[in-house]
Amino acid sequence: MNGIRIKGMGMCVPSHIVTNDDLAQIVDTNDEWITTRTGIKTRHHIGADETLHDITVKAAKDALKNSGVTADQIGACIVATMTPDTIMPSAACRLQEELGLPNDIPCFDLSAACTGFLFALHTMECLLNASPRKYGLVIGAEHLSRVTNWSDRSTCILFGDGAAGAVVECREGWRSICADLGCYGDNQVLKLPGIGMKEAGQISMDGQQVFKFAVQVVPHCIDQVLSRTGYTVDEIDFFVFHQANARIIDLAAKKYNIPPEKCCKNIAEYGNTSAASIPLVLAQLYEEGKLKSKCRALLVGFGGGLTWGGALVEFV
Ligand code: UT7
Repeated sequence: MNGIRIKGMGMCVPSHIVTNDDLAQIVDTNDEWITTRTGIKTRHHIGADETLHDITVKAAKDALKNSGVTADQIGACIVATMTPDTIMPSAACRLQEELGLPNDIPCFDLSAACTGFLFALHTMECLLNASPRKYGLVIGAEHLSRVTNWSDRSTCILFGDGAAGAVVECREGWRSICADLGCYGDNQVLKLPGIGMKEAGQISMDGQQVFKFAVQVVPHCIDQVLSRTGYTVDEIDFFVFHQANARIIDLAAKKYNIPPEKCCKNIAEYGNTSAASIPLVLAQLYEEGKLKSKCRALLVGFGGGLTWGGALVEFV
């Protein structure tokens, strides 16, 4: 199979910033607890005057502009999200209309919670191998503040909203992203019940159980991706892990001796944005001019499902 590489990134976060002190007005918590247990200082929330669609469109337009690819060259569009404005039409179909993407391409949403961007990258690689067009749009976007239980102090302090994504290119002879994806079905430890269900539209989580799952699965994904690509830790330019908790990221960095400048974190500013979290880190690195041609980033996602995924992305 021919591989994909990232040609350009884009991002958009809503302007409304919520601090730890703001949350201490709503639930029994404080800045010290949130900072030491999670590493989060602020998160951005969509306000009354914005929608997920608005920020998704901005992120996608940004990615197209930065990549120099035009809408008519896109061969597939995937939005990884569990919080679309409308379940039907999908967020991806609305993007197709807004951006004027071709009509004869698949556009759909993908639900894999915080691993969504990894599942979407792998799916896009498969789709572009079967497409006459060689570029794809992969977005991660979430409006988690809409599905937050504001009376649960153990989860409401975690989540933020945002959208970010990549234009990817598929070429003959390029190495696959070597995605390692999996799931361990569990309807208890982390869930967001759908329309008509008991506790519909509110996330609940057994944080300790998910923490244990995360610290096992992150090394598993790193090992799998390194073994499939043949690279060593030193040959990777950036490690981008799902931004769920700074302690999970720091444990992995310590285990693999990853220097701080290679282990990217933006959780302090954005909190946990689920499917948007990995592309938000990549888009920030891109904006800072750090993702040079041939640069390699090892990505790891984990979360609801329970799902996990790792992949090695290179930049055109
Ligand atoms: O994105 C999907 C993947 N998600 C994750 O990977 C999340 C993984 N889990 C976590 O990051 C952590 O488990 C949390 C940040 C969610 C919670 O941290 P923790 O260190 O596991 O705390 P805990 O749930 O064990 O709670 C410890 C104490 C409890 O009090 P007692 O029973 O010891 O008296 C909680 O009631 O902290 C209390 N607590 C709080 N205190 C102040 C829980 N939430 C808060 C809070 N402020 N916001």
